[in-house]
Amino acid sequence: MCIRDSIKALYQPALGFVPVVGLAAVLLVGGLQTIDGRQTLGEFVAFYLYLTLLTAPLRSLGTLIGNAQRAVAAGQRIFEVLDASPDIVEPDDAVPLPAGGGHIRFRGVSFSYEDSPELLHDVDLEIRAGRTVALIGRTASGKTTLTQLLPRFYDPTDGTVLVDGADVATVALDELRRQVGVVPQDPFLFSASVRENIAFGKTDATDEEVRAAARLARADAFIEALPKGYETRVGERGFTLSGGQRQRIAIARAVLSDPRILILDEATASVDASTEREIHAALSAVMEGRTTLIIAHRASTVALADELVVLEDGRIAAQGTHGSLYRSSALYREIYDSGLAQPELVGVDE
Ligand SMILES: Nc1ncnc2c1ncn2[C@@H]1O[C@H](COP(=O)(O)OP(=O)(O)O)[C@@H](O)[C@H]1O
Ligand SMILES: [Mg+2]
Repeated sequence: MCIRDSIKALYQPALGFVPVVGLAAVLLVGGLQTIDGRQTLGEFVAFYLYLTLLTAPLRSLGTLIGNAQRAVAAGQRIFEVLDASPDIVEPDDAVPLPAGGGHIRFRGVSFSYEDSPELLHDVDLEIRAGRTVALIGRTASGKTTLTQLLPRFYDPTDGTVLVDGADVATVALDELRRQVGVVPQDPFLFSASVRENIAFGKTDATDEEVRAAARLARADAFIEALPKGYETRVGERGFTLSGGQRQRIAIARAVLSDPRILILDEATASVDASTEREIHAALSAVMEGRTTLIIAHRASTVALADELVVLEDGRIAAQGTHGSLYRSSALYREIYDSGLAQPELVGVDE
């Protein structure tokens, strides 16, 4: 029981009880006065009646004042959010992203969240265009954070992040974010149609573009089987989709703008083998012709990557293929054997 509940449990009965005690006192004193003949019965009944009429409005006044106070507090919070100015702004002389296939370079990148100790320390990492790289590391080693520097959700506190040779801090933001597609770990579906959910980053997308993205993400078949196809309402108050289906809608959403870089934060929740196969089929298709960064939690996902990067406490601990890392990196061996390895799934191939 929280404090609010225990206060309620105390005050609500008390608020009901106190007026009744008052009425009892009025009955006692007024009744005696009437018996003594100091006032008429009519006067006493009228007084008692007025008094009972008064208690209800007075009690609701208390509730109204409480509501008003809560509304003021909530309103302040809403305006705080509305008035917030983004920390990430593009420079006035923002440049377009140079042509390229999505070459990524982190150069001496350090990062800390506001008021938190440094999380990424002097990260140097190069990913060649078109490669698929799996990012491996224990929980809270900074994997998600590192990838969020690419679309500039945050700026590094030190160092530079380059995409196709351009410092992302100098690039026009809308173009950068069109070119870096992100599939978050726990994709959010709005309470809207499937079509709107796929197109929410590019509201002017044509039906054909939405369908093409869904096809690429291997989502078209199940979408067409929904009661109203692409117009089916999903999300909180709509049709409930399975985890694998939501993932594929998120993948379709991420590839709708045909980004040159794709970031996939794999869900940690375990999925059954067939869902995993569906998601991997989608991934293999969308990875084609892009630089892909997968934060991998499963051995079978690692198998999709050309190369692995192991992150330890915000530093790059090792980089290489599964075979070479398994031999050379004790940390990788430990993560692979304890967390990643799911022997029944290893070798599941598309
Ligand atoms: N927005 C944030 N503000 C402050 N700290 C954060 C924020 N996001 C993540 N962190 C912290 O940063 C650390 C690394 O998080 P994250 O990059 O998500 O790690 P990983 O993806 O490797 O599990 C964690 O300790 C986490 O609590
Ligand atoms: Mg993470």
